[in-house]
Parts: sequence; structure tokens; C-alpha cells
Amino acid sequence: VVLAPSVQQLEKEGIEKVPEQYLQPNQDPIFVSNTTSLPKLPVIDLSKLLCEDSVELEKLDHACKEWGFFQLINHGVNPSLVENVKIGIQQFFNIPIEEKKKLWQTQEEMQGFGQAYVSLEDEKLRWGDMFSVRTFPLHIRHPNLIPLIPQPLRDNLESYYLEMKRLCVTLIEYMRKALKVQPNELVDLFEEIDQSIRMNYYPPCPQPEQVIGLNPHSDGVALTILLEVNEIQGLQIKKDGMWIPIKSLSNAFMVNIGDMLEILSNGTYQSIEHRATVNSEKERISVGAFHSPHRGDISPAPSLVTPESPALFKTISIADYVNGYLSSKINGKSYLDGVR
Ligand code: SIN
Ligand code: FE2
Repeated sequence: VVLAPSVQQLEKEGIEKVPEQYLQPNQDPIFVSNTTSLPKLPVIDLSKLLCEDSVELEKLDHACKEWGFFQLINHGVNPSLVENVKIGIQQFFNIPIEEKKKLWQTQEEMQGFGQAYVSLEDEKLRWGDMFSVRTFPLHIRHPNLIPLIPQPLRDNLESYYLEMKRLCVTLIEYMRKALKVQPNELVDLFEEIDQSIRMNYYPPCPQPEQVIGLNPHSDGVALTILLEVNEIQGLQIKKDGMWIPIKSLSNAFMVNIGDMLEILSNGTYQSIEHRATVNSEKERISVGAFHSPHRGDISPAPSLVTPESPALFKTISIADYVNGYLSSKINGKSYLDGVR
């Protein structure tokens, strides 16, 4: 494990040229087209799902099958909580570096500030700082980290963690309905949920096309709920082989299917490949909530395995999946492909 220095600090010091270890030439360019032919992103209205609207359930099913990604509106999370979390996270990344060092990741503990998942010596560094923290179940919490998060952010985040977990449970239940599987094939696994939160800070970069905020990857969890903190565009998703820039709707969360839901749904739902790009003008900040079952095995839901559609994935324990994912090089969907 390599502990990377702060990119925010590097940028603050006013560099003109990006250090070699951040340069990643030969990246896929973004898909450029006139906006009229950009495919239309799915938008799911949670208030309609909660009214058991069958058209909305159909839309959810389609979004998960064809995109693995959707924007969630009317989600019921208090807008002032979201606003306070956004303000608090922006301030949090702006505390002095000396303060930040107290919350920096260590070799043993990959939580706190730093670059999560830099695991290989020869891996290129990403143009971004992160703050990650494991939040649920309660007993996995780091005893010293959360108390160091400044107030009122710490308390606001506490409400936010719960809201994200609630949204995850709700969405999984509607996905179960859409997939027409039994509770014990999907929902029961989520009785005890593992949640991690990761805040991302991507500073502006003088050579934005030469670096990457976050390399192309699919999420190694079941369901991710992402919030754009300062309304700067940077997320791109890969659809039909093309990179499509995503701009969050205001008051929406961006939801994406992770690898574990692709396995559980026997490939019916797609774990979407995505990346975070940076720009030369302004920093971008986002926060992701990552959810998976806390323990157990995952395998394709038995009722989705038939002679016509055989199991696409092997059975794997949650622990093995997470450990394998975290110790492999980030490279598109290659880790998921390895459990086929
Ligand atoms: C992520 O993939 O976890 C973060 C993407 C983003 O910052 O938009
Ligand atoms: Fe991701």
C-alpha cells in the first residue's frame, strides 16, 4: 500500500507542470456529440415508487438493466440536511494541512484522508484527495476517526449516513419487485448493511486531459448513492462503449448499480463502469455512499437461473469479494469478470 501525498496541497502550491506519477496518457476521450443525440438519462421518482406506481417500477427496471445508473428525485431526504452536508464537506477539505494530517490514512487503516485503493507500487496516482470512513454496522467504526470530524458536519453526516442507508434498503426492495425474486434471494442479505462513505476532492489541474480523478471502474459494492457537492461536472459513465458526461439534476442523487447487484441479479442489472475527470478551472467535490450486505455469500438469485439463462457468476463470499476487489488494480470491470 502506498500512501499518496495531498493533491490539493500540490495544487495550492501552484504547480505549472503535473508530476510524472500523475500523468496518464492514452485515455479514452470523452464522447463528443451535439447534445441532441446524447442518450436520455433515466430519472426515477421515488415518491412514485412509494405509491406503487407500476410505470415507475418499469422505469426503474429499465434503468438498472440498460444503464446501471439513474438519477433519483423526490427521494425524501431533507434539502436542508443535504445543503448542510455540502457546506460542511467543502469546509472540511479546506482545513489546514496540519489539521488534516491528524486524519490522514495510515498503512494499517485505510480510512481518513488520502487516496483510497492505491495498492500497487507502480500504479499511477489519481488527481484527487479523498476522505473515507466506514460507518455501518456500528461495531466496525474506527474509534478515533469520526470524533475528529468537525461539528456541525459530524452530526449532519450522522443523519446523512442513516438517510443513505434508508434509501438503499428502499431501492433494493423495489429492485427485488422489479426482478420478481423472493425476499430471501435479495432483500434478506441486506438486513445487516455495510456502509462506507467517501468524499472526493478533485483540484483543478493545468493538464486536465493528462490526468484522471478516478480511473474507469465499476463499484465493488451492491449500490452506490452519489451526491455532487459543488455542482461541477466531472463524472462520466460508459454506455455502449462511449463515455457520457453526467450532470446531476438539482436535488437529485445519482445511483449506480455495483458488482454485487450484477451478480445477485445474474447479470440482469448492470454494474456501470464510470470515471471522474477533472478540469482546469475549478475543484470538484462529490460524496459517495457505498452499500453492500455485511456478510454472507453472493450468487445469482436461484429464480433467475434457468436452463435458458445459466448462472453467469460463481458463488463468492462478501468478504472475499471486497478483499479481492480492494487489492486488485482498478481496471474497468475486470475484477467482476474474474468471478464468472
Ligand atoms: C466514485 O466513482 O466513487 C466517484 C465518482 C465521482 O466523483 O463522481
Ligand atoms: Fe465509483
